Amino acid sequence: MNTELVKQVHWVGYVDWPVRDFHGYQTKRGSSYNAYLVQGAEKVALIDTVKAPYADYLKQNIAAHCPLSKIDYLVCNHAEPDHSGSFPAMVAACPQAEVVCNAKCKDALSRHYDTSGWKFRVVKEGETLDLGGRTLQFFDTVMCHWPESMVTYLVEEELLFSMDIFGQHYATYCRFDDEANMAEVMQEAKTYYANIVLLYAKPVAAAAKKLLGLKLKMVAPSHGVIWRSHFQEILNAYLAWHVSKPTKKVIVFYSTMWQSTRQMAEAVVRGANEFDVQVKLFDLKAVGDTELITELMDCAAFACGTPTLNQSLMPRMAAALTYIRGLKPAGKKAFSFGSFGWASKGAEEAQEYLKAFGCELLCAPITCKFAPDAATLEQCVEAGRALGRAAAAIEA
Ligand code: FEO
Repeated sequence: MNTELVKQVHWVGYVDWPVRDFHGYQTKRGSSYNAYLVQGAEKVALIDTVKAPYADYLKQNIAAHCPLSKIDYLVCNHAEPDHSGSFPAMVAACPQAEVVCNAKCKDALSRHYDTSGWKFRVVKEGETLDLGGRTLQFFDTVMCHWPESMVTYLVEEELLFSMDIFGQHYATYCRFDDEANMAEVMQEAKTYYANIVLLYAKPVAAAAKKLLGLKLKMVAPSHGVIWRSHFQEILNAYLAWHVSKPTKKVIVFYSTMWQSTRQMAEAVVRGANEFDVQVKLFDLKAVGDTELITELMDCAAFACGTPTLNQSLMPRMAAALTYIRGLKPAGKKAFSFGSFGWASKGAEEAQEYLKAFGCELLCAPITCKFAPDAATLEQCVEAGRALGRAAAAIEA
């Protein structure tokens, strides 16, 4: 495996092939925790670490290039434990090293770990650190993805260690974009954006604007492949995703008990299919929240269907809508629908979520008692046409 970014700069992280759950994010292609070793003529720096259980792999990877005792600086770009988890082990292994981070990160690290014996070097926006012929420069990237987040720029090589920004949960033996399957990389970058970045889209866009003032030959995130040939593609994608830019796409998702709401969902799809747009139908039994929000992020319009269960909506639908509400996809047109037995509550509650998302409601909840009759199904088809019409109106 080629781990050399440029001479004397190496990837020394850990590829987590089997991980499938990342605090609720379904990582179907695993992940990686990228750490980087930067060797200057006089000083050596480690940029970030790996999850705590994999500290020994990190040490072995470093030892292939230099003894641990030679490390002078342990740079922490981000205190989330997927990147900071091995700091206690690394501080213990390199007692001479200074932990380099900003003030907020120092505070966050002290709340995660016993940092009483750690030697901190607190850096400010734009500050530099000389490694001997090589300069590290630090930039705060607040809320990308936590308040203390920062990135590190290797000035002479025009190489940005971008932390979570431009990452992908993607396990691969390839370290670089031009070695990997780009369709998979971009799909995982999109999934990552929808599930991790979307809520912080504005600060990430602001950070990207600031960082684009730098000369960039290579961008090395904390997860997934390193961008050295396709950076413009991921940058363009971020610009589109940042505004949840709608495409000619309609999503219909539903839960069902006795197939009535499923029949309504299929009628909605029939209406949307009358237009030249992409239409996708998901039964929440068969799709996870991670995939669903990724599909919703760039749709123009969607509908969600749930029957009423115990005077509320179906628990699986409640879970999905709660997850989506947290990530706040913007600028969608939508409506809700569903069957009920004796008191209609589910579709109405679902509509409250749609309002919380800031959706433009295309119609009132469409409901039916027990099973949809022909008139109800026609109502669903007509509402589906409204979805299709909204998607068709999007500029290609
Ligand atoms: Fe990959 Fe926000 O940590």
